[in-house]
Amino acid sequence: APQFQFRNGVLHAENIPLTRLAQEFGTPLYVYSRQALNEAWKSYRQAVGQRNVLVCYGMKANSNLAVLNEFKNLGAGFDIVSGGELARALAIGADPHKIVFSGVGKQAWEMQAALKAGVKCFNVESEAELARLAQVANQAGAIAAVSLRVNPDVDAKTHPYISTGLKENKFGIAIEQALAVYQRAATLPGIKVLGVDCHIGSQITEVAPYLDALDKLLALIEALAQAGIAIEHLDLGGGIGIRYTDETLLSPTVLLDAVFERLEAHGLGHLQVVLEPGRSLVGNAGVLLTSVEYLKHSEAKNFAIVDAAMNDLIRPTLYGAWHDVEPVAPRTESATLAYDIVGPICESGDWLARDRQLAIKQGDLLAIMSAGAYAFAMASQYNTRPRAAEIMVDGDQVHVVRPRETLASLFDSESVLPS
Ligand code: LLP
Repeated sequence: APQFQFRNGVLHAENIPLTRLAQEFGTPLYVYSRQALNEAWKSYRQAVGQRNVLVCYGMKANSNLAVLNEFKNLGAGFDIVSGGELARALAIGADPHKIVFSGVGKQAWEMQAALKAGVKCFNVESEAELARLAQVANQAGAIAAVSLRVNPDVDAKTHPYISTGLKENKFGIAIEQALAVYQRAATLPGIKVLGVDCHIGSQITEVAPYLDALDKLLALIEALAQAGIAIEHLDLGGGIGIRYTDETLLSPTVLLDAVFERLEAHGLGHLQVVLEPGRSLVGNAGVLLTSVEYLKHSEAKNFAIVDAAMNDLIRPTLYGAWHDVEPVAPRTESATLAYDIVGPICESGDWLARDRQLAIKQGDLLAIMSAGAYAFAMASQYNTRPRAAEIMVDGDQVHVVRPRETLASLFDSESVLPS
């Protein structure tokens, strides 16, 4: 994001040199830009214009309360996937009428809490879940508004990045069965059919897969209408990708223009469209700062051993994901070498980047880019490593939005066996 720029040879977050943050707060350190969050939100708001669209931030990407509160104030709703995420949304005073509840394994207590809070909609992923939800709603004397999450079986051959919208995935209800499950839902006491939902995957860079899915959902919506089941909204999930290095981008405007064109062509322009973007709202609004502890040159490789690790950013280990790596104060004098950037954890899979041409020395600071989404959110304490602090920069201001965990807090609540 343009909020992370070099000025006088030093990488900044807005007006703050990252060297200063490393000095003050130590590394590893997550640094976010408030302005970048606002710009990302603006790209959705401008895409929406006057149309009836509810943008529910997919908070699993980054659920820090400061991030949630910022998006709430900008008008966002939230897509939650657990009772924990519901608690976070309620903690910042989110409007429950703008919360949709996704996920394949909702437990009864989570349903109860969401009904009590009065969430807008449950995105139901199986018949068994529908039955449980009806039961929980009846017991609570409540009505649960539902969408069925339909699995549109979008062809992976043409769109290889899609991983959740395929028959063999655990997600959703097969499109062929959807009509029958809707008919059942319509008869269940405690259940009110409100919408149709899908989420076909993440880091999607083309509009075509969305439109393939949409076409299947439109056919379903028409079949539902014929069966006397009217719906109010169409939830297309999240999934818009970001630029990690040189990806071409799908903009919210291109997506929404294409979606509404098809809706109107089917006489469905009145439907509310719900989106659940996560990554595209936060991914490029953050970096992970890390220091080079050691350089190690073996016959086969050069390693930069840094103080961040797979417990801080698991995306490379888990998906082979690429994150750009920038020296925070690049050295101009020295020649580069190809380095693998690795962490201190006792696993060969503990790497952050591979084969990067860098001119670096021990003690240098590196910024792992695009670490605003699925970075802290997926962090662990493996190897009894405290989770790193999260900092929000706002112009000249610096806010610690989560302090570094203390060592004691990692095992305070544990106990040894009686002797
Ligand atoms: N809605 C549902 C139902 C989802 O499952 C997800 C993400 C989203 C919305 C938000 O998707 P997004 O706009 O962020 O693509 N940890 C992986 C990504 C996993 C995405 C899981 N579901 C990664 O780091 O790439």
